[in-house]
Amino acid sequence: MVDEKWWKNSVVYQIYPRSFCDSNGDGIGDINGIRSKLWYLKELGTDIIWLSPVYSSPNADHGYDISDYYGISPEYGTMEDMKALIQECENCGIRIIMDLVVNHTSDEHPWFVEAKKSKDNPYRDYYIWRKGQAGNLPNELESCFGGSAWEFSEETEEYYLHFYHKKQPDLNWENKAMRKEIWNMMNFWIDMGVGGFRMDVIDMIGKVPDQKIKENGPKLHEYLREMNQETFGDKNLMTVGECWGANIENGSLYSDPERKELDMIFQFEQMLVDQVQGKKKWDLKPLELKRLKQIFAKWQNALDKKGWNSLFWNSHDLPRIVSRWGNDKAYRVESAKMLATVLHGMKGTPYIYQGEEIGMTNYPFSGIEDLMDVESVNMYYKRKQMGYPEEDIMKSLCAKARDHARTSMQWDGGHEAGFTKGTSWYRVNPNYTEINVKKALEDPDSIFYYYKRLIHLRKEEPILVFGRFELLCPEDESVFAYMREWKGQKWLVVCNFYEKPASFSYSGKGRVLLSNYEQNPVIGLAPINLRPYEAVICELI
Ligand code: NOJ
Repeated sequence: MVDEKWWKNSVVYQIYPRSFCDSNGDGIGDINGIRSKLWYLKELGTDIIWLSPVYSSPNADHGYDISDYYGISPEYGTMEDMKALIQECENCGIRIIMDLVVNHTSDEHPWFVEAKKSKDNPYRDYYIWRKGQAGNLPNELESCFGGSAWEFSEETEEYYLHFYHKKQPDLNWENKAMRKEIWNMMNFWIDMGVGGFRMDVIDMIGKVPDQKIKENGPKLHEYLREMNQETFGDKNLMTVGECWGANIENGSLYSDPERKELDMIFQFEQMLVDQVQGKKKWDLKPLELKRLKQIFAKWQNALDKKGWNSLFWNSHDLPRIVSRWGNDKAYRVESAKMLATVLHGMKGTPYIYQGEEIGMTNYPFSGIEDLMDVESVNMYYKRKQMGYPEEDIMKSLCAKARDHARTSMQWDGGHEAGFTKGTSWYRVNPNYTEINVKKALEDPDSIFYYYKRLIHLRKEEPILVFGRFELLCPEDESVFAYMREWKGQKWLVVCNFYEKPASFSYSGKGRVLLSNYEQNPVIGLAPINLRPYEAVICELI
């Protein structure tokens, strides 16, 4: 490889531990469950695991509310199990990146328990407190989960800030002692041998609540540079920041190596294209492919020379991509492979969310009783109160609820899809007898093996990692096509995003490298007639 950064040709697999694999029959996925599946991750070609939080937590937001950064939640196992996982991963060449949730803690974290006791408590300033305005809230800032971002605390008669659940008080990054505690904690995990961090809503740490600044606060980049210097900067680790507020102007600042902040970020612009602009994710709008292509191309080009992109369709916060922008009925396999091709063909580090590699779909919710996530439940009752029709609310939840991503991983066609010997804490998608790992591994044409081939290509071919990206046919409303170019070599990626046949033209011939349909080894490109959801990667010859 021409670049020493190991994470550039790597592929990340995200594990949401609660729903991945349960080893002890209590219905909750755990660390030993993950250990038992390392062979599977290795088989796929995983280099890095992003582990969603396994720390001690009262679970108001399934682990994103941490009460002890140094402790493992007993639901997930012990510190010994965690050490064994890190060691076993190392033995098979996989690195673990930990979820770093430091925009907020749990209200049960000892810092907050102390802080709320009195105004002169040494931990008071670790959090953000304000007096009410003449008996009212300090201001109209809203929580991302709905309702005010301010919660009244009886003990001292002041409000504290929480941009998420009221059990997730926001940390005050202005406080130097608090930052020092975070650096110590990060160094603890680095010493334990982790490969880096995924940083939860990191673009919010520079918040200025009095000016109603939530993301991209004035000191954000200063804090990130300090973090870099005090913790991972001189280690060969990988860091990725979750930045919902990133745009092309501020987005490139994070991952420019010269600035010494992060290696890459998750920016979400392309994931917001099917919502009404300026509204919430629940306000649905059909996908416009032209817009999607434009956004990807913009980020590909902006970070081409300086910085690095993360490539993802899914996470524990997003609905399943095959149901969202593919076709989870007649063309589930073809469309899942097409979406994988679009994403893995671009420049950046690809992320796979558990189950994506076997084409897991959204859950068929029929009523609010099927949903459990705090965000979904809050939205349901809020919109009910506001007079939205039940049907519209359920339509939004069926499209976008985070719960879709949190159903049990479908390992086989047996009891609870092989996820647990007991009863799953949440739900198993009823399609598990059809869609599961066991079946995928038995079928050489499965989505799983297609992902495996894509990952392999990335490892073998520097053009996929380093090649320049150029969007083709930007105005076409059904084909997503682009060129990658590297040292005189040219690769064409052509995908029909829809069921309706489409066509695309480029002069010359292509040697087919990968496709979700049978192809001749060499194909003429003028034109290529594309079948439903057809995807082709070929080298121009
Ligand atoms: C982003 C996480 O991905 C999400 O699951 C969580 O609810 C919020 N941050 C708050 O930590």
